[in-house]
Amino acid sequence: MITVYTFSSLWALVLTMSSFSLATAALNTLQVRRKQRIARDIVRFELIDPSGAELPVWTAGAHIRLVTPGGHTRSYSLCGPVQARDHWAIAVKRDAQGRGGSVSLIDGVHEGDNLAISGGDNLFPLEAQAQQHILIAGGIGITPIYAMAQTLALMPNTSFQMYVCSRDAEATAFLSELQQAPWHDRVQIHHDGGDPSQSLDLWPVLETPSAAHVYCCGPHGLMDSVHDMSGHWPAHQIHFESFGATNHGWADNQSFDVVLPLSGLRLTVPPERSILECLRSAGVAVPSSCESGTCGSCKVGLLSGEVEHRDMVLLPEERAAHIMVCVSRSHSGGPLELAL
Ligand code: FES
Repeated sequence: MITVYTFSSLWALVLTMSSFSLATAALNTLQVRRKQRIARDIVRFELIDPSGAELPVWTAGAHIRLVTPGGHTRSYSLCGPVQARDHWAIAVKRDAQGRGGSVSLIDGVHEGDNLAISGGDNLFPLEAQAQQHILIAGGIGITPIYAMAQTLALMPNTSFQMYVCSRDAEATAFLSELQQAPWHDRVQIHHDGGDPSQSLDLWPVLETPSAAHVYCCGPHGLMDSVHDMSGHWPAHQIHFESFGATNHGWADNQSFDVVLPLSGLRLTVPPERSILECLRSAGVAVPSSCESGTCGSCKVGLLSGEVEHRDMVLLPEERAAHIMVCVSRSHSGGPLELAL
C-alpha cells in the first residue's frame, strides 16, 4: 500500500518531523522483503513489518540502525520512496576493507530474514524554511540525498540542484531512477573514473553564497572539499552526513593517550581505533550515532591537549573546549584530557 501525500501534507511532515523514534513506535524487527543489487557492490534492501502493518512516516535524511548477523550495529539512511508506508528501503555498499558490518549484512542477510532495529533519528533533515537547496552526493552517500530530491520535487515554490559524484555508471546507485525522474534536468551526474584529479569542480556551485541550504553526504574527501569551499557561507546553511568509517584512510594516524580524570582512567588509542571505540571498550558511555563526525552526538568536553579536529559539526568557537570523539584525534601524539 502506498499512501500519497498532498503537497501541503508532505510539507507539513517536513516542518514537524525532523526526527522520529522507532522505539516510541514500538518497532524493533523488520523483515527483508526484497534484496536487489542496484550497482556495483551496492545492494538495496526492502524492509517490511513482519505483521504487514504500516511503517511509521519518515522524512528525508532519516536513518535506521540495524544489527547485522555478525552483531555489528550500523546506521543506514532511508532512501525512499518517501511516500511509501508499506516498506522502507536502504542501500548498502559492500566495503570489503571496512569493519565488517556491510559485508555481514550483504553476505549474510537474505529475503525473508528478520533484522533487529535498534533505533532511528533524522539528524540530517531538510531545512523547512528554505526555498533553495543544493544537494551533493558522493558514492553511497546518495541514499539520503536521493530521498531529499524526491521530497523537494514534490514541494511547490522550492528549487533544488543535485550533484551526484561517483567513479562510473556501474558504481552509481539509483542511476536509472535519476535519469528518468521528471526532475532529471536538476541532476548533474559526474564520473571521475577513480581519479581524484577528475573530481567534479564544485567551486562554481559554492563560489557565491546564496539563500540556499547545502547538503552533502559522501566520502570524506568530498565532504572536506565542500567544507573548505563553503567556509564563506553562513555555517547554518551547510549540512553534512556520512556513515563512513573515518579512521580508515588516515595513513598518518598515530597512537596517543586519553586521560579521563572523572573516571580515573588513562587509555591508549591505537592508530586503527577511534577514541570512541576505546572509551566503549573501557566501559565509558558516550552517546553516538553517525560515528563519522557529522551528527554531533559524541561531543565531549576537552580539558587539555592539542586536537586535530576531523568533524564537520563543531563551530570554530567550540573547538578549544570540545572534541568529537568518533573521529578527532591528538594533533601531535600528545595526551588529551577529556571531561569524562
Ligand atoms: S557520533 Fe556523530 S559526530 Fe560523533
